[in-house]
Amino acid sequence: MDNTYSPEVEYTNDYYHFMSPAMIDCIALNSGFSLPRRDGGFSYCELGCGFGLTTSYLAATHPEGRFFGIDLNAMQIGVAQEKCKGFGLDNVHFIAGDVMEIDPEGFPDLDYVTMHGLYSWVPAPVRKGALDLIAAKLKPGGCVFLSHDVLPGWHALMPIRDFLLAESEKSGKTSVMDRTMYAMSRLQQMVDQRANFVASSPSVLDWAVTLLKQDPRYVAHEYLVSCLAPMPFKTVAKDLSDIGLQYAGDTRPLLNNFRLCVPANLHADIERENDPHEREALKDYLFATTFRRSVFVRRHSTESGPVRDAGDQVWGLMATNVRPSLEFDFPSGKCRFDHPVYQAIIGTLRTQPRPLRELLQVLSGFPERALYNALMMLFAAQWVAPFRMNSGNSACDRINRQRIEGPRRDDMLLSSTYGGALPADDVERLYLFVRGTGGKNMAELGDAMHREAERRNWYRESPAFASFGADAAARRQSLHRIAARIVQQDDYYRSLGWL
Ligand SMILES: C[S@@+](CC[C@H](N)C(=O)[O-])C[C@H]1O[C@@H](n2cnc3c(N)ncnc32)[C@H](O)[C@@H]1O
Repeated sequence: MDNTYSPEVEYTNDYYHFMSPAMIDCIALNSGFSLPRRDGGFSYCELGCGFGLTTSYLAATHPEGRFFGIDLNAMQIGVAQEKCKGFGLDNVHFIAGDVMEIDPEGFPDLDYVTMHGLYSWVPAPVRKGALDLIAAKLKPGGCVFLSHDVLPGWHALMPIRDFLLAESEKSGKTSVMDRTMYAMSRLQQMVDQRANFVASSPSVLDWAVTLLKQDPRYVAHEYLVSCLAPMPFKTVAKDLSDIGLQYAGDTRPLLNNFRLCVPANLHADIERENDPHEREALKDYLFATTFRRSVFVRRHSTESGPVRDAGDQVWGLMATNVRPSLEFDFPSGKCRFDHPVYQAIIGTLRTQPRPLRELLQVLSGFPERALYNALMMLFAAQWVAPFRMNSGNSACDRINRQRIEGPRRDDMLLSSTYGGALPADDVERLYLFVRGTGGKNMAELGDAMHREAERRNWYRESPAFASFGADAAARRQSLHRIAARIVQQDDYYRSLGWL
């Protein structure tokens, strides 16, 4: 069968932390599921893994896990295999193949199955192949992460997609990239001329403008796949419930809290809806959701072994510059995090990540519910995140060392405690390198960073240093100022295992 997916165009090569075990578990645990402890390790399989960057980074940060990545595109799988060889990883296996043709016998029982950018971009038999693998291999208490384009929100965007597809077909070009570039140039003309199908609604116009800034490889995969099929939430939830899985929530925590994502005048409508699937479907109307990143769980019986619940969940601060008085702009309105409960959580997590159970004990002066709700608000604002309580591991430390010591190569560093990768710019990498070379007072730190930046020629070559000018004294002074500021991030770097 022609599965209409063109292996000609490679996909973009990005890391998605929302597919990490910590994030998936967090969504399940905070929706009331208890999960197996998975103390003896776990197995994880990404279907349609592209270049496999997410699976590779997860393998590097979870030595106790066994990882698999499957993709139709053999070139992409080759790149993933080479990369993992370079990382020295032996707990990840990439397979070039069609999800439709996977033999479940070739896999161990799985704790996680993930698919990002697959489910609504492939024909029904491929979706069935994925569901069959899950039905055959997902353990009780196992979790599925699945993203898809959503109806009814996508109805408003369909004219843009239909236009792109029609223009690419009319282009007379043979290569997919040329067709995509042509279709994008035609859409640009439509935007410039404020053609009605793009300009009649401000949100559709925003969508088109954003789309035109995207990598054409992404546009080819997202919009020009002929079998693109946005789906109502209830259709996807039924596919999964037919094989025994229940919906837990979305990895964008904002979407799990309708009070934050839907304007207040619509809250009563949602509260009246008791059926969880109907409630999600209604939210999609009220919020005009276009994309979901859903987590589903296969229920297990608590007699089957030790379990984790929300109290075991470890929380950490995402950056030490979080200020309790900051305001966050949720779709339902602004929220100020200046209540003492927020300050207490931020102050406590500033020094180290902690399990929720411990946080509740340390901050027992606050009512448990208020504390938990405040934590969830900080999570929705992405100021706190689920962590793993793991010390460093050799693969992760080795990869970070290469990235900190070597030339610029990637803007991410790995963390075992976070359970994935985080952005770190050249200034941070330089600071971590200098800190790793022995104790220094503040003045020495600034000088050492300046010398190292010169040695690496980063004043010329790194965009992060471009604004420091040509004068050596001014550059040195800039690095002294940076050292004085960045040293305040030490707790954060320590919590990530970077110091
Ligand atoms: C939109 S990309 C997403 C890649 C990756 N999950 C990510 O988010 O970066 C979809 C991927 O699915 C792969 N794919 C499409 N149909 C497939 C099939 N039937 N079996 C295996 N992989 C498939 C494509 O080759 C492509 O790399």
